[in-house]
Amino acid sequence: MGQNTVHLKSLTTTQVAQFREHGYLSPVSVLSAREAREARVQVEAIEAQHGGKWPRHLSLKSHLVYTFLDRIVHHPALLDAVEDVLGPDILCWSSRWFIKDKNDGGFVSWHQDVPYWGIDVGENIVTAWVAISPATRANGCMKVIPRSHRSLVPHKEGVSNNLLLRGQEVAVAVDESRAVYMELEAGQMSLHHGLMFHGSEESHVDERRIGFAIRYIPTRVKPVDGLPRDSVQLARGVDRYGHFGLETRPQRDLDPVDVEQHRLATATYAEINRLAVAKHLEMIAQSARAQG
Ligand code: NI
Repeated sequence: MGQNTVHLKSLTTTQVAQFREHGYLSPVSVLSAREAREARVQVEAIEAQHGGKWPRHLSLKSHLVYTFLDRIVHHPALLDAVEDVLGPDILCWSSRWFIKDKNDGGFVSWHQDVPYWGIDVGENIVTAWVAISPATRANGCMKVIPRSHRSLVPHKEGVSNNLLLRGQEVAVAVDESRAVYMELEAGQMSLHHGLMFHGSEESHVDERRIGFAIRYIPTRVKPVDGLPRDSVQLARGVDRYGHFGLETRPQRDLDPVDVEQHRLATATYAEINRLAVAKHLEMIAQSARAQG
């Protein structure tokens, strides 16, 4: 990997080693207190226009239609840290809101992300989970199992009351006593690998937990064969591969052209997700046969 010759932009060599070895890194300070506060004001203003809840149809990829979220996805402090783990050519594959209120039943079962994304599970893929409000153990911050990112495991689906699209959960035993809780102040982020076991618990306190999860991949990452062509946004560097369609960045909020691009991108992803799950299950069946 030529690790000794890499010039890091933001993280220390110890932090990069922590991410590689253990599959996560937390906390990393990225937004100023003022930036985080301003983002929260905008989030809550949008919620107020939609009956007090972040609109469902904007759960995924809302950075394609709101400029304040586009600025977070492309924030230099954030991308410097991501570059230190992914290299200089970076795509934003997606973004997603994880918002929890007191006793709203929201929790996330233990799962791995990449099997559901229709991209190469063997790749170095990272989620930057940006705290727009404080994330604490009490309000259900993310928890991870260190070193669980080294292999893909089977998942089952349909776990109820789950913030995940398919209610997926790893179909293996998880030792909760090994869990690390990634508490964050507003403006900090955690990074976790695409195969990391992660989840979170319900909130029982008044402090809202507003998290914006951004998925970054190196430009070389290949989509799984036989799926519809996915779209991504260039976050930094150059895309020399062209594996994905490239999304444009919004110049103003809710521009009709951007709204249409967002609609198409999220519809395509819904289809990819459905097909990727089927392929994932097939792969597991095959490897079980090969091993059996
Ligand atoms: Ni996840």
